[in-house]
Amino acid sequence: MELKIYRDKQEVAEQFSSFFADRVKSEREYHVALSGGSTPKIVFDVLAEKFGSSINWRQIHFYWGDERCVPPTDADSNFKMTVEHLLAKIDIPYENIHRIKGEDEPQKEALRYTEVLAENLPEVNEIPQFDLVILGMGDDGHTASIFPHEIHLWHSEKSCEVAVHPDSGQKRVSITGKIINGAKEVAFLVTGAGKAPKVGEIVNKSGNFQFYPATLVAPKSGNLYWFLDEAAAANLS
Ligand code: 6PG
Repeated sequence: MELKIYRDKQEVAEQFSSFFADRVKSEREYHVALSGGSTPKIVFDVLAEKFGSSINWRQIHFYWGDERCVPPTDADSNFKMTVEHLLAKIDIPYENIHRIKGEDEPQKEALRYTEVLAENLPEVNEIPQFDLVILGMGDDGHTASIFPHEIHLWHSEKSCEVAVHPDSGQKRVSITGKIINGAKEVAFLVTGAGKAPKVGEIVNKSGNFQFYPATLVAPKSGNLYWFLDEAAAANLS
């Protein structure tokens, strides 16, 4: 686990964008799972602004770590957010964008997306392997769409599961721990004071850390990076 702590979310966005640009310098296909929510917005804006014209997007394939079960035009859609902040600004082939179809029946889509991963990603120990999985973390310690009240979904044998948001009841399709921990590299992007308590418990292995899905992120490769701003890192000793 490597902690990368920066002044504020702008610097997190700049530093992560440089990290990403460096990773994709190789000329081969690069498969990355994107996170949703609000944190990625500034990251995607900076990535497009700083590297939109220098990265060879033709070699990059975008997937999602989770998606809300809503149409791609819905304000809640992670895909819609990604189009607005990144995809609409870069020259990336349509066939390189592998969205989760939030508009379809959730269980059916979880099965379909399992196939998408199996068909497009290289397999290591019979598990589809991402080059990079980008994750956020909720104030409750959830990651992707694996929430504390459904932490058992993390351990599913399946690559994708249908989860339910604990407050809104909104259904989500999420990749599971099997996929996340099978990735070559995993990067958390976590900013803001609201995240500090859980970041502190998880990194310091204190309090109720064992109940948070974000605690379970431990890629077999050992390549786990936490991109944090000072506010989110406030409780780190
Ligand atoms: C989602 C995300 C989710 C998110 C966290 C943090 O679909 O909401 O994938 O895991 O990363 O909830 O969200 P914020 O960045 O909005 O705090």
